[in-house]
Amino acid sequence: MELGFFDGEFISMEERRVQLEDRGYQFGDGIYEATHVYNGKCFALDRHLARCRRSLRELRIPITYMDEELIAIHEDLIKKSGIKNGVIYFQITRGVAKRSHAFPESVVPLLSMTIRESKTNTKWQAEGISCTLFEDIRWLRCDIKTLNLLGNVLAKQASHDKNLQGTIQYRKDTNLITEGSSSNFFVVKDGVIWTHPISNLILKGVTRSILVEEIIPKLGYTLVEKAFSPEFARYADEAFATSTSLEVTPVVSLDGTTIGDGKPGEITKALLASYHELVKKECGALS
Ligand code: PDD
Repeated sequence: MELGFFDGEFISMEERRVQLEDRGYQFGDGIYEATHVYNGKCFALDRHLARCRRSLRELRIPITYMDEELIAIHEDLIKKSGIKNGVIYFQITRGVAKRSHAFPESVVPLLSMTIRESKTNTKWQAEGISCTLFEDIRWLRCDIKTLNLLGNVLAKQASHDKNLQGTIQYRKDTNLITEGSSSNFFVVKDGVIWTHPISNLILKGVTRSILVEEIIPKLGYTLVEKAFSPEFARYADEAFATSTSLEVTPVVSLDGTTIGDGKPGEITKALLASYHELVKKECGALS
């Protein structure tokens, strides 16, 4: 059963609670996280909570929750909803105040959450997805996971309009790929794995971090965190996108060009298998 949490209470998803002058609603003034629930347990919640804290700090939103509280609410949502496999979305806005751009004083941030059933798209993982390229028109703090997602929304719609499964963004001034509309992007060329370095231009994905810090060193592959052009990506041997929901999903075509032999690559498949092993270790099972 889908379930919501708003301002300290568990509520049904149908219940209307948003306050007209919530700054998240009026300014997109807030942050969010999305975590994956496998077998009734949240995967990599510690990494998500660390990123949440960083986002709040960067936006100077007061931190009014301890990690233990947030962990307990995540566990309660899972238990009360009965959902074993799904996604928990949580957001914290700067709070409710009379509309005025500058930060309001003495306002307590507002936490809301939802849990929904969802499953990883295993067909996409087995066959790979086709992506379009789209100019990255987002602001210059893409490292903060804010509620302002219009650039990402327009990017994602570009692939929907073409009946494709994903969008990869590039900056026009440098002709360099940054990331997907809601994923990080990697290519493999001559056995070397490439991805955009951590900077203000990309989100430091939890899945990306797990690959870079744990899985890639364990499997012994060479990784370079260096930006590359769309042309380099088109002629890569393999490509893949990573996110909480995609896990490691092969990209087999980019802007109409087939990547490699058009099938998920060997390194991509090894990374996905290793990611699944980690999930099983932490959550007990994949579903
Ligand atoms: N998005 N880059 C962007 C722009 C994202 O929005 C996301 C995640 C990622 C991957 O981050 P992670 O591995 O921590 O999920 C990269 C989530 C899934 C969303 O918007 O729902």
